[in-house]
Amino acid sequence: MGMSVTETKVLTDRINRIEVSATMAITAEALKMQASGIDLANFGAGEPHFNTPQHIKDAAIDAIEKNFSRYTAVAGTPEIRKAVVERHTADFGSGYTVEECVFTTGGKLALFNAVQVLVDHGDEVILPVPYWVSFKDIIEYAGGKVVYVESDEREDFRITAKMIEAAITPKTKAIILNTPSNPSGAVVSPADLEAIVRLAHARGIYLLLDECYVYLNFTGAAVSGGTFTDCKEHVVILGSLSKTYAMTGWRAGFALGPKQVIGAMSKLQSQSTSNTSSMVQKASVAALTGPQECVAEMRTDYLKLRDRVLAGFKTIPGLTCTVPQGAFYVYPNISAFLGKGGPKTASELAQKLLTEAHVVTVPGEAFGTDAHIRLSYAVSGDVVDKGVERMREYLAKLG
Ligand SMILES: Cc1ncc(COP(=O)(O)O)c(C=O)c1O
Repeated sequence: MGMSVTETKVLTDRINRIEVSATMAITAEALKMQASGIDLANFGAGEPHFNTPQHIKDAAIDAIEKNFSRYTAVAGTPEIRKAVVERHTADFGSGYTVEECVFTTGGKLALFNAVQVLVDHGDEVILPVPYWVSFKDIIEYAGGKVVYVESDEREDFRITAKMIEAAITPKTKAIILNTPSNPSGAVVSPADLEAIVRLAHARGIYLLLDECYVYLNFTGAAVSGGTFTDCKEHVVILGSLSKTYAMTGWRAGFALGPKQVIGAMSKLQSQSTSNTSSMVQKASVAALTGPQECVAEMRTDYLKLRDRVLAGFKTIPGLTCTVPQGAFYVYPNISAFLGKGGPKTASELAQKLLTEAHVVTVPGEAFGTDAHIRLSYAVSGDVVDKGVERMREYLAKLG
């Protein structure tokens, strides 16, 4: 009412340090366009187009029917933690105990809580580029300093132990590694993964290994950092059921690591989300202990879709793309289409692709590189064909 209001600070420094997840922002815009009746070729969201397998859904329905609907232990029931460690041990020989496992509301929370309990103000965290959007913000929210490790597109964005070693300083507290990678689909070789695990252990640095796509590896040699059991003291594995079992909406993830770290993560969880919902824990037991054929079947389909996208890209002059070895993303280089009176940045190109070609992609700036866009090919073959055709037509106007 005409009076000047003294400016008070509403929000904390830490919330002002981070940004809304770029993938979520573009998904929201795409949803709006779709709601207004526009037919989009949507390569934006990083989630399986498959439905959750029936036996997993049945386990959740059964849990509800049987009134398994009360609080559980914060870190998860003994049953789900046993299912997690036994699955991981069967597949990777890691031999974790139930006390070395916390079940979380999605893999993202496992990562968030691991960083919160390990990274203090001023601590350095090594992060390979291109990186999944949330890594950077989660480190910065904790007050950590991100130390970027650039990768080489000509080497398919592959990260090596040598590259990690060169970034270590006395302030390095942790390394975040995601293999297969979102967004590039790059896979760290088994030899380099072992070397990185051993390097971290020898230097007393925590290796936070995001294994969200560990089962979506096309090289035929899926390895986990947990395999090197003599280095476990400095390895924290972050797992997720989201992509492996087509369960993104259920919010089911976990961490495996030293008891001290897992205990601290459980303590933090006890003051925030508490346990993951009880029926989701039952569904997750069914996923981890039930038949695993669904995982292999989906992987086979993703591989076919990858090849279909790459074949389509070959018909677009000027577009180049590395061959992803895992996950379900392609990360083409779009520098040939920038400038020349058209879009100047990857963000502008992604925006134009959305509004003019009705193709949803995520600009590379969100992942730390400025000459790429990310497409998730976890969509039907028809959407792949339609989307690639639209890109070809639109990009031909810019070339
Ligand atoms: C690399 C990576 N880590 C973790 C996650 C988190 O998955 P969720 O929280 O659904 O388990 C994602 C999801 O996109 C991801 O791409």
